[in-house]
Amino acid sequence: MPRQLVIDSYTSLDDVQNTALNCAKCGLCSTRTHVVFADGNPKAKLMIIGEGPGQKEDQTGIPFVGRAGQLLNKILESGRIDRLTETYICTVVKCRPPENRVPSKEEATACRPYLEAQIQFVKPKLILLAGATAVQHLLNVKDPISRIRGKWFDIKNDARVMPVFHPSYLLRNPSREVGSPKWLMWQDIKEVRRTLDLLNNA
Ligand code: URA
Repeated sequence: MPRQLVIDSYTSLDDVQNTALNCAKCGLCSTRTHVVFADGNPKAKLMIIGEGPGQKEDQTGIPFVGRAGQLLNKILESGRIDRLTETYICTVVKCRPPENRVPSKEEATACRPYLEAQIQFVKPKLILLAGATAVQHLLNVKDPISRIRGKWFDIKNDARVMPVFHPSYLLRNPSREVGSPKWLMWQDIKEVRRTLDLLNNA
């Protein structure tokens, strides 16, 4: 991806958003209600990247407001991370794939310049990739999340990147037993809080 080219074509994050709101670069534009661009604080140190909007997100234009979003809110609260001020939340594709199917490679590729520009304008210090779609598209890695989650796995645009379970996966795996996906997510979010505190105090 020619990074400079992407950012040079936008003057600001608002410019990126306004362009995305009128996007027709893939077929998802014909079935969407709203383009779902982002939520949270564009100055946040922590960016969370999910897969794509579901039904509630499509209706409201806000990412992670459905059941998975409510669980994400609880996870963030349990880690004392404030969604509104301490995170910037977005997704690999900005329009809902019909029936909530996984976005295709073509759809994710069409949407990629928006995501790259979001990363470049927000300049997060930490990026959480929630679920396999975000991991595959941003890290080009096919390993199961269970194997790579919880570690600062890579660096992207100066941000440390950690794969984590997608909240939808946690909804399907509700056990909180030691070693369960939910328990592991709790460990991961504590590590994120710890690292945010270090960054805030640096
Ligand atoms: N799943 C996602 O990845 N993003 C949303 O906004 C909702 C569900």
